[in-house]
Amino acid sequence: MSMNKQENKSGLVLWLTGLSGAGKSSIAEKLVEYLELKHQKVQLLDGDLIRNFCPTGFLKNERNDHVKRVGFMASLLEKHGVIVIASLISPYQSARDDVRLMCKNYHEIYISTSLEICETRDVKGLYKKARASEIQNFTGVSDPYEIPKNPELKVQTEGVSVDESVLKVLNYLKSVKSI
Ligand SMILES: Nc1ncnc2c1ncn2[C@@H]1O[C@H](COP(=O)(O)OP(=O)(O)O)[C@@H](O)[C@H]1O
Ligand SMILES: [Mg+2]
Repeated sequence: MSMNKQENKSGLVLWLTGLSGAGKSSIAEKLVEYLELKHQKVQLLDGDLIRNFCPTGFLKNERNDHVKRVGFMASLLEKHGVIVIASLISPYQSARDDVRLMCKNYHEIYISTSLEICETRDVKGLYKKARASEIQNFTGVSDPYEIPKNPELKVQTEGVSVDESVLKVLNYLKSVKSI
């Protein structure tokens, strides 16, 4: 594949979307670790971490504002040649499409893990609380998740190790950018 220097230096956005517990953060963190070892300019934008600093709610408009806020940051960073790894549920297709338009080089990666598996993992005990109605508007339980219509990549995590999933994303990244 021929690629000029400009393309080689250009940033891009890998946007990991999926249910809570799908594996977005786990995959994103390992990917960032690997790319940093390879001296790549990389920035993780994790939805939960950003929510810690910019708290917001879980109503549809609040979720979409959060997604657009993160998308805007991603668009600024990619302009400076950064590989942006965004990991957030981003449940609505329309908001993800807004981010796609905001960014120059957006790649939607669907971390495809069934609700059943996510609920079995229940990493943070949130599904249990959502089922007991202790928390409201929980994606997959009492709030929608719109499956990506045309993701650039779909990563199945069931019966697969985190490392194998990371490799899948990495191979995809290598197919769109020389690193
Ligand atoms: N192939 C896989 N890819 C990613 N995570 C996996 C995989 N298999 C099992 N897991 C586990 O699933 C959990 C996913 O949690 P997390 O990454 O916090 O999800 P999310 O950020 O999507 O809410 C972790 O405990 C992780 O170890
Ligand atoms: Mg996460």
